[in-house]
Order: sequence, then structure tokens, then C-alpha cells
Amino acid sequence: MIVPSLKDLYNSLPAGHYAVGAFNVHNMEYVQAVIKAAEAENAPVILMIGEAMIPFAGLDMLATICLFAAEQTPVPVAVALDHGHSFANLERCVELGISIMFDGSHLPLEENIRLTRKFARMAHAAGVSIEGELGSVGGAEDGEAGKEVNLTDPRTAARFVEETGVDALAVAIGNCHGFYSGTPSLDLVRLERIRELVHIPLVLHGGSDLPEALSREAIARGIRKFNVGTDLKYAFSSTLKRLLTQEPMPYQPPALLGPARDAVTEVVRHKIRLFGSTGLAGQFHGPLAPAEGAVPSRTVGRPRKS
Ligand code: 13P
Repeated sequence: MIVPSLKDLYNSLPAGHYAVGAFNVHNMEYVQAVIKAAEAENAPVILMIGEAMIPFAGLDMLATICLFAAEQTPVPVAVALDHGHSFANLERCVELGISIMFDGSHLPLEENIRLTRKFARMAHAAGVSIEGELGSVGGAEDGEAGKEVNLTDPRTAARFVEETGVDALAVAIGNCHGFYSGTPSLDLVRLERIRELVHIPLVLHGGSDLPEALSREAIARGIRKFNVGTDLKYAFSSTLKRLLTQEPMPYQPPALLGPARDAVTEVVRHKIRLFGSTGLAGQFHGPLAPAEGAVPSRTVGRPRKS
């Protein structure tokens, strides 16, 4: 079932120390893998379309696959744009009934607030939600150039949320996209302080390659959305590599892509258990209708409105 807004997703789940897994998807196999894992764990999930993937896959193509899969499954699924910068992409997602993340973390604070507020109004008018980012998460996302790390200041975070109206906030507490170059460490005291001052779901980007104990600590201190991309890509690609070097090489798509898809499912199932969200789909009692003004998912893929 599609849940158009992250706000509805979280408001319709019980309170507790767990995070909903948010997984970057790049093609049909990734989408199927995440949905299969969510069904096996009876867990809510978030399918994320990274903006960096759009030139490769096409927004409408990927959105159509995600929304179709979400519509077919009994578990609650939100679809969200990840690291949106382009007005055209943000606008199109809102039009399709997909939640957005506006990443203004590279901008001066006042500009980040101004633009995030503008996109929040656009999202809320269509019944979808918006995630903002304050401070910058290091490392490279989907092969894009990495940003400089700049940790989130708790008091500024409270002001940012108040002035922008975002529904979820991505924080920078030492987390990095991609594989960590040294031993990962998170500023958990900073996270606790943010949690005291900010009363919307907090998001941890860079959820791959983090020690499990640290992931649990972050959830115990308030992380509610855990973003994971690299661990899935690695599982998919390393399975392909193994198969492509076999003799005879399996070249039929199901023989090649099926095991790669299964490898992603296993990683996602493991993450869902780690995040404590197994079984939560059974406790979801939320709005199922598409956002007012949103294009029903069956019509995605049609040309833009004007
Ligand atoms: P990783 O690729 O490090 O898991 O990060 C994913 C992410 O944060 C997407 O926004």
C-alpha cells in the first residue's frame, strides 16, 4: 500500500525505539528486492529515488516502478526523492504524489531555510511530505562528488524545523555516505541534544558500513529513518561479478539478475531486523488514499502537465 507522506507513515505507527529502513533503488530488481524483504519481515519501508540516478534511469520510469510495486504490496510503502536539488525534479515528484527531500545543506543557512520552506509549502499543498538537511553528511552519494562534513548544531536544527515546516530532518553527526574510510564514529551526545529540541523524525544518511552496535545506539537516541544505499549496491554488484566470472557464464537475465536481486533482499531483511521494524506493518493504521492533487500512480509515466 502506498503511503504518500512520511508524516502519515510515522503518525500511523506505534511509538518506540525503531527506525524505518529507507533504501535507495536503481532499477526494477532493487525495487522488487526491497519489497520482497519488507513482505518477509512484515515491515514498513521507504523506497528512495536518488536524484543522482535520474539522468540514468529517468524519474518517471523509476517512479512508475516504485509506485506500482508499492500499490501491489500489503505492507506500507512510502516513495521518496532522495537528495533533491533540481526544482523540476522536486516539482515532478510532488505532482506524482511522491515525498521529497530537499538537500540545501551546501547552501548558507538562510538560503537553506528560505528554499526548504518554499518546497515544504509546495509538498504540503499536495499532501506529500518533505525532509530537509542541516549540516552536511560527508562522502559521495551515488557517485556524486562528496561534500565537506559540517555537523548539525542542535539549536540551529530547532530553528530550521520551526521556520521551514519540514516533516523529517537529516542530521550530520559524523555519518558519511559510502564506505567509511576509517572507523566510523557518531556524535551521540549531539544526537541526543538534537532529539531534545526537535520533535519530528530524525534521519541518518550513510547507513551502510556502520557497526551494528552503533546503528542501535543511534536508534536508541532518536534516529527514526535509516538511509541505506551502498550496502545494497555492493551486494548486487559483487553477486554479478561472481556470476560473470563463472564458466559457462550465466547470460539469461533471470540466471544473472535473480541471484543479484536475492542478495539485495537478504541485506534489506537484515537491516530491517537491525532497525527493529520487523512486524510493524501489522500495527500500521494509516491513510491509504493518494495525496489530494497527486496523480494516481497508474498514470505515472504520462507526459508532464504543461
Ligand atoms: P549509504 O550509501 O552510505 O548507505 O547512504 C545512503 C544514503 O544516505 C542515501 O541518502
